[in-house]
Amino acid sequence: MRDIAKRPIGIFDSGIGGLTVVAEIIKRLPNEDIVYFGDTGRYPYGGRSPEVIKRFSRQNVRFLLMKKVKYIIVACNTASSLALNSIKRNFDIPMIGVIKPGAYGAVSNTKNKKIGVIGTVGTVSSSSYTKAIAELDKNVEVTAIATPLLVALAEEGYVDKPASMLIIKDYLSPLRKRGIDTLVLGCTHFPLLRKAIGSIMGKDVMLIDSAEWTVKMLKEDLLKRNLLKNSSSPGKYRYFVSDTPDKFAKVGSRFLGATVSPVKKVNIEKY
Ligand code: DGL
Repeated sequence: MRDIAKRPIGIFDSGIGGLTVVAEIIKRLPNEDIVYFGDTGRYPYGGRSPEVIKRFSRQNVRFLLMKKVKYIIVACNTASSLALNSIKRNFDIPMIGVIKPGAYGAVSNTKNKKIGVIGTVGTVSSSSYTKAIAELDKNVEVTAIATPLLVALAEEGYVDKPASMLIIKDYLSPLRKRGIDTLVLGCTHFPLLRKAIGSIMGKDVMLIDSAEWTVKMLKEDLLKRNLLKNSSSPGKYRYFVSDTPDKFAKVGSRFLGATVSPVKKVNIEKY
């Protein structure tokens, strides 16, 4: 095996949300090692300006490069929307974001060519999904809605309480009126609300999890670049955060569906 293929995959997110991408890697690429950075000290990214997100993303990439990763996944939808193109130009390492894979998943599924997207204010105002979908099929009508409260609901574990259902229903009402047949969960946190969102949209609307499509595309790209770790031993996982590890480990286990350990704090401003 080429030495570089033995290196870990680096992932960064604004906080715990990117663990939904880690969960997909564990499922689809169980032998790969992972170094995860969650920027919990500067969370959330959702309402921040493109300049700030770009600066944070550059620091996150420099940190992961110090850990000798072979590939970088920008798991955060907001950072993928606002910073991926710029960091791709700045660093010489293969990278994937979550927007193009999610757009691809949605376009492959839609029959009536009406797709909905929900995400943070940053993701929606960048029109990243709308542009990525148009590149694949310009006849698709995209309705994108910012649903920032859903991030807090997922993080607080309010996944199926009556109050959450009211908020989700209200947010999704314009999408139901549009008659979409495909809805992109365009934020790291939304797979946790899948059941509630699905029950409100109904069974005729397919929910697209960007994390799932990202890892499918990652696998293809690793294969193409000869970077798949050819080993039968289970992957090793290391987690780093920019604020105290305790909350990350506790809330993170819900996002990952497994214990999140070991978690270490780093001073990301140094990078
Ligand atoms: N990780 C962010 C995203 O996927 C959601 C949380 C945040 O606002 O930082 O857009």
